[in-house]
Amino acid sequence: MSERKIIGKMLYTQEDITKRAKEIAAEIDRDYEGEELILLGTLKGSIPWFTDILKYTTADTKIDFITASSYGSSMTSSGIVKITFDPQINMYNKHVLIIEDIIDTGNTLKYLKAKLEERGPKSVKVCAMLNKEPRRVADLHAEYVGFEIDDLFVIGYGLDYDQRFRGLPYISYLEPSDVESL
Ligand code: IMP
Ligand code: MG
Repeated sequence: MSERKIIGKMLYTQEDITKRAKEIAAEIDRDYEGEELILLGTLKGSIPWFTDILKYTTADTKIDFITASSYGSSMTSSGIVKITFDPQINMYNKHVLIIEDIIDTGNTLKYLKAKLEERGPKSVKVCAMLNKEPRRVADLHAEYVGFEIDDLFVIGYGLDYDQRFRGLPYISYLEPSDVESL
């Protein structure tokens, strides 16, 4: 493997993320002890964080995915949410934990939660890798949060800038000067 240069300004390394994922998985184990749990990953951004939580929890899990888009190629949210891939798994009377990359305005998750509640689950909770609380518009609370961050535009570990950089094994943020040189 060739050396790769860090894109943007480093925020959290793979080691930081792994440590938090293990801590959160332990909380999930305690909270859902003896219960079946559906881990519902939001595509595409949650994939690396989703696989961490899935690996480290010992809960009795089933998995599925959902795609909701509220973002174009810009750095700000449109506020319009569309479900473009719908999970087929039966959620009736089951605990559902949405695994999300980042909560920004909260519009996407608020909409998603309301839609999933219509399927009669026992509970719907949220596990987000990052929470950008200063940007919150919607009334949305995540039960599990990897890291609280400031109002920064972040990439890596699933997060994209115009669909790029999802594969970076760390989370970094982009400043305008970084964007010019991408
Ligand atoms: P919200 O509906 O405003 O909470 O938007 C949530 C979605 O916007 C996330 O799932 C991401 O796909 C995207 N998003 C928000 N902030 C960032 C960021 O800093 N970097 C990359 N994607 C982001
Ligand atoms: Mg997303």
